[in-house]
Amino acid sequence: MGKIILTGDRPTGKLHLGHYVGSLRRRVELQNSGQFEKIFVMIADAQALTDNADNPAQVPELCELAFYYMNLVTVQRLQRNPTVKAEIQLRGFAENNAEEEETAAQQRPGTPVGFFTYPISQASDITAFRATTVPAGEDQEPMIEQTREIVHKFNSVYGETLVEPEILLPDNAACLRLPGTDGKAKMSKSLGNCIYLSDSADEVKKKVMTMFTDPDHLRVEDPGKVEGNTVFTYLDAFSRPEHFPKYLPDYASLDELKAHYRRGGLGDVKVKRFLIAVLNETLEPIRERRRYFEQRIEEVYAVLRTGSEQARREAAQTLNDVRRAMRIDYFEDGELIASQAEAYKNKA
Ligand code: TRP
Repeated sequence: MGKIILTGDRPTGKLHLGHYVGSLRRRVELQNSGQFEKIFVMIADAQALTDNADNPAQVPELCELAFYYMNLVTVQRLQRNPTVKAEIQLRGFAENNAEEEETAAQQRPGTPVGFFTYPISQASDITAFRATTVPAGEDQEPMIEQTREIVHKFNSVYGETLVEPEILLPDNAACLRLPGTDGKAKMSKSLGNCIYLSDSADEVKKKVMTMFTDPDHLRVEDPGKVEGNTVFTYLDAFSRPEHFPKYLPDYASLDELKAHYRRGGLGDVKVKRFLIAVLNETLEPIRERRRYFEQRIEEVYAVLRTGSEQARREAAQTLNDVRRAMRIDYFEDGELIASQAEAYKNKA
């Protein structure tokens, strides 16, 4: 059996450069690498419902799988999931105990059960397509770990049925967690520090010009720090050797540029101008594709529909395997029917 990729996003907002370097760019590379038999990229709309209950879902097989997996995971294990913990904090949900719910329910809403169990539904997303490989960011590591545990448990209780997936993290530190334009740890819509894939060249320019650099690099002559300097982190993530002759021919490579900055005598504005050119070159083909498909929305829906139908067939196949392994495929199980008939015959 070949290797299979599954990954996805919640449809909860515009995509930004953090998504791009963390996962989107990699998906295209992997898709074209010829190393994978199949690749599934899902719009995780059912998962998006778990803290935002107002949108419809698509592949119902995933819900049924999740429902079976629920019996293989303890409440305590979910409570220990670091991503779930962090997100409960972030959203200000009340803790998962009944007493607090009684006293503090008025001030803080409780945790929706669907939200609490979303690692299980994510496990069904991944296993439904027999994914071997999940390209995703660091924050998804606990989810993949939880999925592996469910697979392990399922296979040991019901026999070898499900495939254990592995996470595929970005290979470059700058891509692993791209900071926001303000230098904060992460690009996030709520912090207002994002560069979106849909931003115009002008918006990109404005955002880069106000970007956080080295606060001690006051005059051009001063030596500057490259570590923790957002502009250089972005260059680590986006610049390629061919950008230098094109946009900054005085330097042969990023290492040379960094060395000059460290020595002193290189101003922020020059480096920022270079970054603007690099980002806009990277984003232009994406903007062009967006403009193209914005004028072809029907075609977009047709692609999504075909993909969903294909995905549903795959998931249904896995669900059949799961039901058979659990011996709840009563109507397909001739042996079961015959043995039941026999047992009652002998009673008569
Ligand atoms: N949890 C992911 C996120 O918040 C989205 C997601 C849903 C996903 N199902 C998945 C990612 C399966 C990888 C594999 O971004």
